[in-house]
Amino acid sequence: MDKFRIIGRTPLSGALAVSGSKNSSLPAIAACLLTEEPVTLHRIPEVRDIGTMLKLLEYNGASVERLPSGAIRIHAAKITNPEAPYDIVKTMRASSLVLGPLAARTGVARVSMPGGCSIGARPINLHINGLEHLGATVNQEHGYIEAAAPEGLRGNTVHFERITVTGTEDLMMAAALAKGTTVLENAAREPEVVDLAHLLTKMGANITGAGTSRIVIEGVTKLHGAEHEIIPDRIEAGTFVIAGVMTNSEIIVSNCVPEHFASLLTKLRQAGARVEESADAVQIRPVGKLRAVDMTTEEHPGFATDLQAQFMALMTGATGISFVTENIFENRFMHVPELARMGANIRIEGKQAIVAGPSTLTGAQVMCSDLRASASLVLAALVAEGESILDRVYHVDRGYEKIESKLAAAGANIERVA
Ligand code: EPU
Repeated sequence: MDKFRIIGRTPLSGALAVSGSKNSSLPAIAACLLTEEPVTLHRIPEVRDIGTMLKLLEYNGASVERLPSGAIRIHAAKITNPEAPYDIVKTMRASSLVLGPLAARTGVARVSMPGGCSIGARPINLHINGLEHLGATVNQEHGYIEAAAPEGLRGNTVHFERITVTGTEDLMMAAALAKGTTVLENAAREPEVVDLAHLLTKMGANITGAGTSRIVIEGVTKLHGAEHEIIPDRIEAGTFVIAGVMTNSEIIVSNCVPEHFASLLTKLRQAGARVEESADAVQIRPVGKLRAVDMTTEEHPGFATDLQAQFMALMTGATGISFVTENIFENRFMHVPELARMGANIRIEGKQAIVAGPSTLTGAQVMCSDLRASASLVLAALVAEGESILDRVYHVDRGYEKIESKLAAAGANIERVA
């Protein structure tokens, strides 16, 4: 199992370029199941979760080709196997994104139930309820969800009792091929949902309202091939911006859309950081000590839960007490004991972590537990005195493209040890 060796306290400089969004690529790949024509996707990041999703589509019968340009061409001429098996779903919960497309295209879908996850229970009941509203019969047996709609799906109003990102995406894809009009109420407003709507529209779907909490989809009988460039990864961008601020560096985070992580930039400014955005980059300038600020995770456009751990790492070095509240997932503080091993002073009370700073972090051997928790440990190690060894970096590899090469090119002392 690979590890990272990081020697802290080297400033960053130059630029950190952001890759395509993992969480936009996953539904975009699933959307390729909706048409018998090829779809070409640009800027798909080379990360483990994408490899898993592509493997799933191949299992479903699609062909996947990486073009010399780096783009990926997916051709689901025929669906030979409308199933997401346990072995794939257990490694990546976003596999449930094929439920809607498979049911819509073939009238049947068999998807393994995801089971537990390190950041929370993560049920998919809202995906299932939504499909039932579109006329599918859904049964759960032997650990699998089986959806059947032999006569095709029918448009309807679906009110999500809780905002769900992949649930909104799953239903939007299903509704694209349903008969009649579907209205998704209390829909997720994340940029990834908007990006998927753009792709589906290019494929011939009729969608309005993506980016608001009410999305209207007029079903069509057929979708066709398309070409689409995935939006930049706002979580990778935010992680890099925090890296720049934490290391007190002068650095640019480029190829991103700062508007997609505006709530992070606002918080950073409240803490005293100097961050200036243009249309596609953020310039960070050194300031010295930061002030502690409170932060609460919310659905978009609120502060992203996927940046909570990284922000907490930042707060360990800020002066004062910071209350970090996690509202989206019930168990997303796995990084806290590891940050504590590096010298952070953090207490957990229910869904709140109370960070007392500033702490001087020191390098230590720490364990990665999930994708974003790992990112927070990378950040902490960048400012810690001495050497840190991060174990189980396969968690980082799930969602960050070549993070160690990117950081090393910007001056960090980081290497992968096999
Ligand atoms: N929820 C339910 N029932 C459902 C679906 C969700 O109760 O059927 C609950 C979840 O348990 C959670 C909340 O609703 O408490 C929100 O979950 P959501 O469905 O929005 O999460 P997701 O779609 O499974 C996506 C991202 C996550 C990100 C969350 C929240 C992808 C592939 N994943 O997950 O990304 O944290 O939205 O923004 O888009 C990551 O990249 O590290 C990651 C975990």
